[in-house]
Amino acid sequence: MNSRECQHVAIIMDGNGRWAKKQGKPRTAGHLVGSDNVRTIAIAANELGVKYLTIFAFSTENWKRSQEEVSYLMGLPDIFFKKYMKEFIQRGYRIHMIGNLDELPTGTRNVLREAEEESKENTGLHLIIAMNYGSQREIVEAANAYAKDVKEGKKQLGINEEEFSSYLMTKDFPPVDLLIRTSGELRISNFLLWQIAYAELCFVEESWPEFTPDLLKKCIEDYHHRDRRFGGVK
Ligand code: FPP
Repeated sequence: MNSRECQHVAIIMDGNGRWAKKQGKPRTAGHLVGSDNVRTIAIAANELGVKYLTIFAFSTENWKRSQEEVSYLMGLPDIFFKKYMKEFIQRGYRIHMIGNLDELPTGTRNVLREAEEESKENTGLHLIIAMNYGSQREIVEAANAYAKDVKEGKKQLGINEEEFSSYLMTKDFPPVDLLIRTSGELRISNFLLWQIAYAELCFVEESWPEFTPDLLKKCIEDYHHRDRRFGGVK
């Protein structure tokens, strides 16, 4: 039995496109319903005691999709925050971004930065949105930043894991306890590789638009029934 609190949940929100196709709709319709589901699941996560929820909204590999789809995904944060920001503020949620935002269209970047700024005094659920995020790139950038600090005499050579973590985009958040991926794929897809070192993994068959608060509750219940040993013996 795992008594450790499930304070950080990360989700790979897969299957929007396939879900939309099944309904005879364009892939973008799946992303829209998927973005509405971010609100539903954020509320449920908060009610279930989760303190940090990190969602994979756009990966560094997603630029390979059609121009129409990429451009839709770049416009989605604006639609999303126009609909829900007021409610998030009322609920006390704090929005954070991870990823290389400087490569996003200016309009998208501004919307995301504004959401961070507007919610920065909040102390409730931390909703962390990964946008143009790739974990290998994050780790390489961290290594480069550390090397630079050594070269400039700001750091000694030879740091430990905790110090290295402070160079990552997730430096202000605890490690991931539970990683969920929807839509039946058994992959990590370059998401939070460092941060999931000791996470429990939960793969569900349902696509992201079909993922409900009940399914989240079930994943968290499963988490509590697993025996997390962190490499030790009990
Ligand atoms: C993967 O499904 C999903 C994405 C690449 C995008 C996920 C984005 C959202 C749910 C919107 C979140 C946005 C905000 C602003 C919170 P897929 O399209 O790869 O599905 P498929 O595997 O069926 O093709």
